[in-house]
Amino acid sequence: MDYDNLPTFEVLPKHVGVIMDGNGRWAKKRGLPRYKGHVEGAKTFRKIGEFAADLGIKYITFYAFSTENWKRPKEEVSAIMDLFREYLKEALGRVEEDRKNGIRISFIGSREGIPADIRLLMKQVERIGRKEDRIMLNIAVNYGGRQEIAESVREIAEDVKKGRIKPSEIDMDMISSHLYTAGMPDPDLIIRPSGEQRLSNFLLWQSAYAEFWYSDVLWPDFTEEDFVEALRAYEHRSRRFGGV
Ligand code: FPP
Repeated sequence: MDYDNLPTFEVLPKHVGVIMDGNGRWAKKRGLPRYKGHVEGAKTFRKIGEFAADLGIKYITFYAFSTENWKRPKEEVSAIMDLFREYLKEALGRVEEDRKNGIRISFIGSREGIPADIRLLMKQVERIGRKEDRIMLNIAVNYGGRQEIAESVREIAEDVKKGRIKPSEIDMDMISSHLYTAGMPDPDLIIRPSGEQRLSNFLLWQSAYAEFWYSDVLWPDFTEEDFVEALRAYEHRSRRFGGV
């Protein structure tokens, strides 16, 4: 990709969701242990996050670890947590660079069950972000869409119980405002590589009107060109369906 001549788009999604799938198969194909696929996947994640910022995308959410992923072998879970920890430390050591690049990192998902040292790093990383940043890079960790909706409803029920609101006041906006993504636009485009065509509990509520783009490329092999292809597909779809 020629970084001096970045592609431009007539319509750019405000918020892109990415399901980073296919790491395990990538490793298997090469006779490597699964965690090696995650190591490569984490590199792709860095590359695509920075590229999205360069293109002018305002929000991008990467699905890194779902609430169901705890069921994986212990070694694999801890390899993913190690990669995450490494990335967080790297982000803390790179505050100035991220500020210059305008990348603000935040997280969605439940913190429960995440190792305490990682939770602390997450807090520190979130604290260094600034409002005027170019892109909000969200990482979904220990995230589940249904769990998120259930939690939102639980919080609202508490407000009803305490007499702060009436049941008749509960509407879609109220539910949205209790989700992890409160204040962010809904995703316009969801990208899923590796040949699977399902949402897997990712941004369930928020994806109600999202466009979907699938590809057979395994996540570690996913390139900037693949990302551009997804954005081109979105550009055409949204033009056809009532864009300007
Ligand atoms: C899905 O591929 C991928 C995951 C469950 C983990 C994704 C995690 C990373 C890319 C690293 C996280 C690190 C950071 C820095 C956020 P899969 O294992 O389900 O692939 P398969 O379907 O081929 O088995």
